[in-house]
Amino acid sequence: NTNILTDDFGRHHSYLRISLTEKCNLRCTYCMPENGVPLTPKEHIMTADEILKIASVFVKHGVTKIRLTGGEPLVRKDFSEILKQLSALNIKLSITTNAVIVDRFIDDFKQYGLQDVNVSLDSLQAEKFTFITRRDQFKKAYDNIILLLEEGFNVKMNVVLIKGFNDDEIIDFIKFTKHLPIAIRFIEFMPFDGNNWNKEKLVTQAEILEQAHSHFDEDEIISLENEKNYTSRNYQIKGYKGVFGIISSVSNPFCDSCNRIRLTANGNIKNCLFSNQETNLLTAYRQGENIEPLIANLIQKKYAVRAGMRDFESLNNPENHTNNRSMITIGG
Ligand code: GTP
Ligand code: 5AD
Ligand code: SF4
Repeated sequence: NTNILTDDFGRHHSYLRISLTEKCNLRCTYCMPENGVPLTPKEHIMTADEILKIASVFVKHGVTKIRLTGGEPLVRKDFSEILKQLSALNIKLSITTNAVIVDRFIDDFKQYGLQDVNVSLDSLQAEKFTFITRRDQFKKAYDNIILLLEEGFNVKMNVVLIKGFNDDEIIDFIKFTKHLPIAIRFIEFMPFDGNNWNKEKLVTQAEILEQAHSHFDEDEIISLENEKNYTSRNYQIKGYKGVFGIISSVSNPFCDSCNRIRLTANGNIKNCLFSNQETNLLTAYRQGENIEPLIANLIQKKYAVRAGMRDFESLNNPENHTNNRSMITIGG
């Protein structure tokens, strides 16, 4: 291949997800282990300037979209500075946030051209939100999501479904799209180190659609065309302002159109959400090395499907969860 971001399966990695921090102001059980994760010492975390320089290498080779993730990206002290610097690149900027402190950044988002804001909200009920996040911040998160919509941002809302916890809210979430121009995405719970995943907690794409079909009439549910490099397969209830979708990484992966490459807060590129194949770019960058061959090499090693876990059985094997990071340090 001539382009360092294109793999042997012809997938061109034009979408870079940068995790800005390993810290978060919530403690979601499906994301962070009960006792937290050992934090990388600050001197091994990318500075704002290093983020810009490393991201620029990816942009030079064809990255057109950057998503800022975490932990919670907005808790990073120099968030505004990072955003400002990245806005000078010729790319589409986006963020995934828990929305708890989003109100403080509305002006920055507008000033630096960040329009696409994905938010996480796993329940429409305050007590349940507190249970899953281990923090009492439902009102802040909820109000800020409404604020983002009022301010005209493109908002997608992520709902990680956990059997027996929030699968009774699927219809409520769909109804939430009646008057609001929001995209709800139901996400199949995925296994990562320390998040106590097991298959009994999984709510599959098939089950979600079954619930939708038992509540709405057949001709009310419109199936939308898949977007290029989609994660969610989307639907709309006739006459509703918003849409809903399902991210089925577990029961029905979408790896053949994967265009994502990840950069962790400590400067590792990671070639798949489920893979422990990583290369530290930051150290090389600090030593003045050319990082391009390192990127090319890791892209070439990427598996066709889910880090080699093609079928459900291999994803279900606990040994394959603990050799990956915890979600909190990947950023989704
Ligand atoms: P868009 O950029 O708007 O398409 O958003 P997104 O769905 O890529 O990003 P977001 O950060 O909102 O993530 C939503 C869910 O999709 C999370 O649970 C992520 O872990 C999951 N996700 C994001 N990217 C990938 C990916 O490359 N592979 C898989 N399997 N899941 C992903
Ligand atoms: N399974 C599925 N999605 C997850 N997220 C975090 N942990 C998991 C998991 N174990 C989602 C969050 C966030 C997005 C970046 O990733 O809901 O919105
Ligand atoms: Fe891409 Fe890996 Fe996600 Fe598949 S599981 S879509 S290969 S990041």
